Amino acid sequence: MEMSPAAESDKPIIEFKGVSKTYPSGTHALEDINIRINRGEFAFVVGSSGAGKSTFMKLIMREEKANTGTITVNGFNLTKMPRRKVPMLRRTMGIVFQDFRLIPKMNVFDNVAFAMHVLGTNASGRQIRKEVSSALAKVDLGDKARSMPNELSGGEQQRVGLARALVNSPDLIIADEPTGNVDPNMSYEIVSLLTEINKRGTTVLMVTHDHSLVRDFKHRVIMLDSGRIVADNAGGDME
Ligand SMILES: Nc1ncnc2c1ncn2[C@@H]1O[C@H](COP(=O)(O)OP(=O)(O)OP(=O)(O)O)[C@@H](O)[C@H]1O
Ligand SMILES: [Mg+2]
Repeated sequence: MEMSPAAESDKPIIEFKGVSKTYPSGTHALEDINIRINRGEFAFVVGSSGAGKSTFMKLIMREEKANTGTITVNGFNLTKMPRRKVPMLRRTMGIVFQDFRLIPKMNVFDNVAFAMHVLGTNASGRQIRKEVSSALAKVDLGDKARSMPNELSGGEQQRVGLARALVNSPDLIIADEPTGNVDPNMSYEIVSLLTEINKRGTTVLMVTHDHSLVRDFKHRVIMLDSGRIVADNAGGDME
C-alpha cells in the first residue's frame, strides 16, 4: 500500500520557511515567517488586530498563497501544490469558523453529515450515521441532532461547528477565533473540548484575542506583530 503524506509522523505537521505574504493591495501581511508545529501540539496564535493571524491560518489552509518561502502542511508542499489538489489537503484538516457557518436550512445532524459529503466520502449511509452521532456525542450535542441551527445558542452552534470539523477525523484543526462570538463560559467549554480532542492526538491551532484563555489553558503561544513572529512560548506565557 502506498504511504500517504500524512503518515510521515516524524516530520512537523506545519512548517514555514522564510514565508512572506503581500496582498495585491501592497499590504505586507506576513514577513519572513519561520516556524514548526509538531504533530500533537496545541498552539494559540495571538497578536493585535491586523498582525497577520488570519493570513497565517489562510496560508495553512491554502486559501491564500505565499509570495516567497515554503510551507509544508501534513506532508504536502503547499507552495507547489496545484489548485486541483487542495481538496486532498483539506481532507486532512478540520476548520472551525468564528461565525459558525452552519447551513440554516439543515438540521444539526445534516450539517455535520454534509461535511462528510463535501469531502467526497464513500462511507455507507449507516457509517455516516455512526460517525455523525459519534462527533455530536463528543461535543455533548447528542440530544440536539434534529434541531435547526436557529434553535441553538451561539455556544451550541459553535459546538456543531466543532463536530463538523471532527467528523472527518482530521490530523489538524484550524480555528480562527472560534470563541469570538460566544460568551466567556462557552469559550472555556469550547477550548476545553479542543484540549480534549488534542489529548487524543489531533494537532490544534487556534487564533484568539482572549488572554485569559491563553493564560489558563497553558498551551504554546505564538505571537504575531506587524506580520512577524515576536514571541513563541510554552505554557501560556504571553511575555
Ligand atoms: N484580502 C486582503 N487583501 C488585502 N489586504 C488584506 C487582506 N486580508 C488581510 N489584509 C491585510 O493584511 C493585514 C493582516 O490581516 P489579517 O486579517 O491577517 O490580520 P489579523 O491578525 O487576523 O487581524 P484581526 O485580529 O483583526 O482578525 C492587515 O493589514 C489587513 O488589512
Ligand atoms: Mg483575523
